[in-house]
Amino acid sequence: MAIKCMSQAEVIASRFETIGCGVYQVARTLLCCASKEVTMDAQEKLPKSETVRLRKRHVGQSCKLFYRADPLKIVRAVGQYMYDEKGGQYLDCINNVAHVGHCQPDVVKAACDQLAVLNTNNRFLHDNLVICARKLTSLMPAPLSICFFVNSGSEANDLALRLARSHTKNHDIITLDHAYHGHLTSLISISPYKFNLPGGSGKAEWVHVASCPDVYRGKYRAVDYPGQDMGKMYADEVLDICKKARGGGHTIAAFIAESLQSCGGQIIPPDNYLRNVYRYVREAGGVCIADEVQVGFGRVGKHWWAFQLQGEDIVPDIVTVGKPMGNGHPVAAVITTLEIAQSFKESGIEYFNTYGGNPVSCAVAIAVMDVLERQRLREHATRVGNHLLNSLRQLALKHLIIGDVRGVGLFIGIELVEDRENRIPATAKAQHIVSRMKEEYILVSSDGPDRNVLKLKPPLVFCQENADHFVKILDEVLTEMNDDEVTMEAGSPQRQKKANHPEFENSPNEKKIKIDDQQSEKIIKV
Ligand SMILES: Cc1ncc(COP(=O)(O)O)c(C=O)c1O
Repeated sequence: MAIKCMSQAEVIASRFETIGCGVYQVARTLLCCASKEVTMDAQEKLPKSETVRLRKRHVGQSCKLFYRADPLKIVRAVGQYMYDEKGGQYLDCINNVAHVGHCQPDVVKAACDQLAVLNTNNRFLHDNLVICARKLTSLMPAPLSICFFVNSGSEANDLALRLARSHTKNHDIITLDHAYHGHLTSLISISPYKFNLPGGSGKAEWVHVASCPDVYRGKYRAVDYPGQDMGKMYADEVLDICKKARGGGHTIAAFIAESLQSCGGQIIPPDNYLRNVYRYVREAGGVCIADEVQVGFGRVGKHWWAFQLQGEDIVPDIVTVGKPMGNGHPVAAVITTLEIAQSFKESGIEYFNTYGGNPVSCAVAIAVMDVLERQRLREHATRVGNHLLNSLRQLALKHLIIGDVRGVGLFIGIELVEDRENRIPATAKAQHIVSRMKEEYILVSSDGPDRNVLKLKPPLVFCQENADHFVKILDEVLTEMNDDEVTMEAGSPQRQKKANHPEFENSPNEKKIKIDDQQSEKIIKV
């Protein structure tokens, strides 16, 4: 089978300075016109069945695979669309890594051009490294002026812990419940999302877990404390942790948190949360690390960094960035203050990272930041994100299962509940929706401790037309589920249709549901 190659037409279209579906529509039309002129062999090297067989045979089965029961084979992608081996086009609402759009031509060109000239380690002088560092630090609040380049979000967070410990000479870390900070041993230890799993290692004594500041279904709910300073209420728990740690002979090296918790279920912390937490942690002798690996680089629209949503005065001591920084190419960084970098130097241990800051990775990161600015993608994220949030809030008036719609820019969560009063998570239904949306060629995932939050973090080129399409299909799927429920209550054979989805297999009072793609299961009462 032959598929169309990315043509000149697409490159031209993507260079339009305005972003919108129109541009990609033009791109796709031109692409079709050019399809006779540019074709290439299928990028599929094996039939799908063989890809599945070889993956099972040779790839660790703990590696996550989306839609494990019927996985997708993606062979190419453009902008906010991914294509399977049969040419099926999927709207990508998941990939925050392809930040400025899949295969963005300027980014691709920057990588190819540099790869053809030189790629080596950063023990030699190279302009890309310093230009990238200058650009990245220019986007941060002033004290954050020093960069360390690494290859992944995990490496960035691991280095952030080392910096914090060498600067404070303390050891303990405060983390948030449900947090995920990476796959290295040091980070699994501070990721309750992982260490609390049945097979996890549990909490180490040097780790202190504070409640996730979730005002919808967390420890303190806004509905129960009207008009109260929820940010302070949640922050006071961190103060308690600092006091107890000191009482127990522990010293705090750092507080680490995503500025908006993504794995925790697309959580927006209440006002005053970071302001108070940062003060308490610093008073306890620790430093504050903002993990912007998922939410950085303008996803929130108004600002470059999500911590800035909490106020201009909120300045972390260390910021970690990754995923969107390379638009799919592995590049990440730690940005910190001169004082912290100096303490690390004084430890006498040189820092060397073979690939960190190589000329190709830096060329890619520079191109990503340029595209973000030139195409005004932050403004675009605000515009489209607000439109999508408004439409979803309208949809919530129609479908009671939508308990909460929250978000900022193109970081959006739709929390699904069995009833709005008790806010029981609609876990099984969320999984069903994810499967049905895939059948409708929309890729969306669910997350949060109960996997009941639909999370949207699409490439920033996601446009208003995409948002409208998403809402329309979600509406149809929810309506169909309502219809099924009504018919089921009437005892109709329609029940069969629902039972086709694995998550609806059990009952009558309990359901065994698949809670993630790794086939983990959970029993929930219904
Ligand atoms: C918030 C956060 N921090 C760090 C990481 C680790 O990044 P990486 O997978 O690039 O090592 C992730 C990955 O999902 C993440 O979501």
